[in-house]
Amino acid sequence: MASNSKSPKSPQNRGLTRVPISMLLSNEEQTAIGILPASHWEQQLTQEDPDERITERAKTVSLTESIFEYRQFHGRTYHSVIGRAESWEPNDERHIDAMEIAHHGYMVLMGHKLYRAPLDKQRVRKVLDVGTGTGLWAIDFADEFLKADVVGTDITPIQPCWVPANVKFELDDCNLEWTWPDNTFDFVHGRMLIGIIEDWYEFHRQAFRTCKPGGYVETFVASTSFHCDDGTVKEDSAMSQWGKVWREGGRKLGRTFEAYENDLQRKAMEAAGFVDIEYKDYFVPMGGWGDDKEAAEKGLWCKITVEADLEGYTNYIFNVIVGWTPEETNAYTDQLKKEWSNPNIHGYFWARSAWGRKP
Ligand SMILES: C[S@@+](CC[C@H](N)C(=O)[O-])C[C@H]1O[C@@H](n2cnc3c(N)ncnc32)[C@H](O)[C@@H]1O
Repeated sequence: MASNSKSPKSPQNRGLTRVPISMLLSNEEQTAIGILPASHWEQQLTQEDPDERITERAKTVSLTESIFEYRQFHGRTYHSVIGRAESWEPNDERHIDAMEIAHHGYMVLMGHKLYRAPLDKQRVRKVLDVGTGTGLWAIDFADEFLKADVVGTDITPIQPCWVPANVKFELDDCNLEWTWPDNTFDFVHGRMLIGIIEDWYEFHRQAFRTCKPGGYVETFVASTSFHCDDGTVKEDSAMSQWGKVWREGGRKLGRTFEAYENDLQRKAMEAAGFVDIEYKDYFVPMGGWGDDKEAAEKGLWCKITVEADLEGYTNYIFNVIVGWTPEETNAYTDQLKKEWSNPNIHGYFWARSAWGRKP
C-alpha cells in the first residue's frame, strides 16, 4: 500500500498500457450480441438532422502514446500503471468536476444518506472507503463520524489535500491482496465500483477478513440496463443499446458492470460469511419522467450527473475497449441524450445499496 504522498510523477508510476487489439470486439461479435454497428449512430445523425455536421474523423490517438505519467486515450487522461488496475474513468479536471456532481447525484438517490448499514456512531472508529474517487464520501462521512478515522483508497491521486484531520487517502489497487491486518475496520464501504472490481467474491472475502467482528460492509451499485414497461424504449434505441455495450465492455475488461443484474453484492457477502444481509433498491426514471416527484428528482439528477461528462464516462469502454471511434460514440450519445430528455420515453434503471455484518 503506497501513500499518495508519493508523487504521481515518480518514475515507478510511469508506464504505458497497451490494449491488445485482440481485446477489441469484432463487428461480427458485436452484431452477435445485439449491439448495432457503431456507424449506425452517425447515419442516424445525418438522417435526422442533415444540417448537423459530423466532424472529420480525427486520427485515433495511438494507444502507445502517453503524456508524462498518465495514460491518454482520445484526449482524456487515465491513471498511470499501478498494480493490475485498469480503470475506465478519466482522472482529468473535467471528470473530477463530473465526479463531484455525481456525489450529489448519489446522495439524492440514497435519500441524502451516506450509508444504510445500522452503524453505531459511538462505536465506529476505523473506516475504509475503497475506490474513493474525489474522496467526497470519505470527507462527508468523517464529518459525521468525528470519532472515526477514515481511509480512502484509489489508484489515482485526485483527492483534495485540505481535508478533515480524521481523513487520509492512500494509493492502492483494491484488486490486489489487501495489506490491512485482520479485524481492522468497523466499516468497509465501496460506492459505484462496477467495472472496477475484478472478483466480487474476493473483494468481500477481503472485506470480511479486515472487518472487525460486528463491523459492516456496504456497497452501492447502479445497473447499466434500462427497462421500460410501456414499450416507449424501442429495441434499437440508444437507451436499449447502452446496457449491451457496457456489459460487453465489462466482459472484455474482466470487470463486470452487472453487479446489480447478477445480485453479486448479496451473493458475495453471503459467501464471505457476512450475516444480517439487507439491501435497498432505488428506482430511477431516467431524465425525471413520471408523477412521483421523489423518483423524478432522482432521474433528473442522474441525467445531470452522466451528462456532466458523458464523453468521459463512455470514452474508455466504447472507444478503447469496444472499439468505436469517438465520432461514432458522440453520434450515439447525442441520440441517447435526446431519448432520455424526451418525457414520452419512459426508461428506468435500478440501483442498490447492500450491506451485511461480520458476526
Ligand atoms: C465510479 S468511481 C467512484 C468513486 C467514489 N467511490 C464515489 O462514489 O464517488 C470509481 C473509482 O474507482 C477507482 N478505481 C478504479 N480501479 C481501482 C482499483 N483497482 N482499486 C482502487 N480504486 C480503483 C477509480 O479511480 C475511481 O475513482
